[in-house]
Amino acid sequence: MTVDQSPAWAALNSHADELRHKHLKTLFAEDANRFDNFSVSAAHCLADFSKQRITATTLQRLIDLAEQQQLPQKIEALFGGEHVNPSENRPALHTALRQPKTAPLVLEGEDITKQIHASLERMEALVEQIHNGQWRGYDGSPIKHVVNIGVGGSDLGPLMACRALNLFTSPANRNIDIHFVSSMDGSQLAQLLNSLDPASTLFIVSSKSFSTIDTLANANTAREWLIDASELSLELISQHHFIGITANQAKASEWGIPEKNQLHFWEWTGGRYSMWSAIGMAIALHTGNDNFRKMLAGAHEMDSHFRHAPLTENLPVLLAMIGIWNINFLDIHAHAVLPYDGRLQHLPAYLEQLEMESNGKSVTLKGDKLNYATCPILWGEIGPNAQHAFYQLLHQGTESVMCDFIAPARRYQEYGDDLQAQHQLALANCLAQSRLLALGDSVLEDGDTAPSHKRYRGNQPSTTLIIDELTPESFGALIAMYEHKVYVQSVIWEINPFDQWGVELGKQVATSLLDQFSHPTAAKTDSSTAGLIRFVQQQQGVQS
Ligand code: F6P
Repeated sequence: MTVDQSPAWAALNSHADELRHKHLKTLFAEDANRFDNFSVSAAHCLADFSKQRITATTLQRLIDLAEQQQLPQKIEALFGGEHVNPSENRPALHTALRQPKTAPLVLEGEDITKQIHASLERMEALVEQIHNGQWRGYDGSPIKHVVNIGVGGSDLGPLMACRALNLFTSPANRNIDIHFVSSMDGSQLAQLLNSLDPASTLFIVSSKSFSTIDTLANANTAREWLIDASELSLELISQHHFIGITANQAKASEWGIPEKNQLHFWEWTGGRYSMWSAIGMAIALHTGNDNFRKMLAGAHEMDSHFRHAPLTENLPVLLAMIGIWNINFLDIHAHAVLPYDGRLQHLPAYLEQLEMESNGKSVTLKGDKLNYATCPILWGEIGPNAQHAFYQLLHQGTESVMCDFIAPARRYQEYGDDLQAQHQLALANCLAQSRLLALGDSVLEDGDTAPSHKRYRGNQPSTTLIIDELTPESFGALIAMYEHKVYVQSVIWEINPFDQWGVELGKQVATSLLDQFSHPTAAKTDSSTAGLIRFVQQQQGVQS
């Protein structure tokens, strides 16, 4: 029996028949205490679910579904190191990366907490060397620029965290600039290489597999640039200018990273769950080791809440289950992430990978094809900017969209009134938008007299997440909350959130097509691909 044939699913389906046509304005009119009844706080974060199309019965039935799917046992399985990633036959232990040193976790006879903290301390020692100016470039210059080369999980987490925690820049870091290069087309790298001084630039090659072509292509170009500038050997350049962070020591060594310049993490750390490992070195370089530890502590706080709070008060569980309600019972398949704080500019991209690469699946853990929807299309933008771009569709388009509004309560405490006033402006807009999306033009006395092109139908559900203020701790907790949300949804949908086989075939096909650009052959492709290659070759002056 699949979950959509289960009693708890059926109960939700019939409940949805009652609620599907009920407008949020009616739900608010029926219950004056919706905010108190439907908001939950944990680990620096308050989640207001009252603008979701739910009632107390909805929540009860969603919790019944979670219990039917044995969610509490599955949460324990995650934390306990069971093989929750069966297609790769391994655990997913990102939670272990933020456990305190005093909490041992034995995996196949080894205390992995010890290994984790040993790796963390090695990373911290390297960070200190760079901060203290002891790490020198090929001509003895101290490092002024660090470039993280990586893609997907080896890029998005560190990039997002560095921007989010910009205010927490460590004074120890001597104004070292941190840059990020991910795109295989070389555009970010080309721009940087024009402006950086080779002798004072250090590259961190971040790659779990150390075989991602995007990352290796950028790393090769960077190394050639250094060799050309210094006229030194590859070995010397690798010693002074490259750090490798990987779970594949052999491949990193083969590429030329000396062992003393390598930091390791583990196969059981999923790429998109890896910013808590040495992959986060760019964050530690930018914000300092102390703030990196605070970020881990904030995530651990959310982990403890997720592991121990009852399901009915469990923030990630409720976030996930209400998502399930929207997707599987209200038929909503688009999800917008809308931070009202510019420092969270990369959160939408990060969540696109976290949610869609994890739960963009259509077979069960047992390999059976699914008959129900899983991860929705998720996208987002800084809220105030999105207001001037795609909110038109949210307010008056034909699609139902669920939204997450995210904002800190306090900001700019140490700045003047002007910036604080700007923060209030952003908050007022955040709350105005979620109110209007929920209630439509009923918020106006005479809203229903407007011509149809000026009407706002409302009834778009949203969650508002207010964090106390954006600090390393609250940021860590926020990201851990989303990780757990993704896991809970995967448990309900009976899918594996920790593999990503859907990205493999594209890599293989690209490798085989690459050959055809330089050696046009009669190799079989479809007429579109063949025609496009021919056109590109003509433009490039290649004879076919
Ligand atoms: O292609 C997808 C993916 O494997 C992601 O899951 C991962 O985060 C990214 O590529 C980068 O992989 P790696 O860290 O091994 O270079």
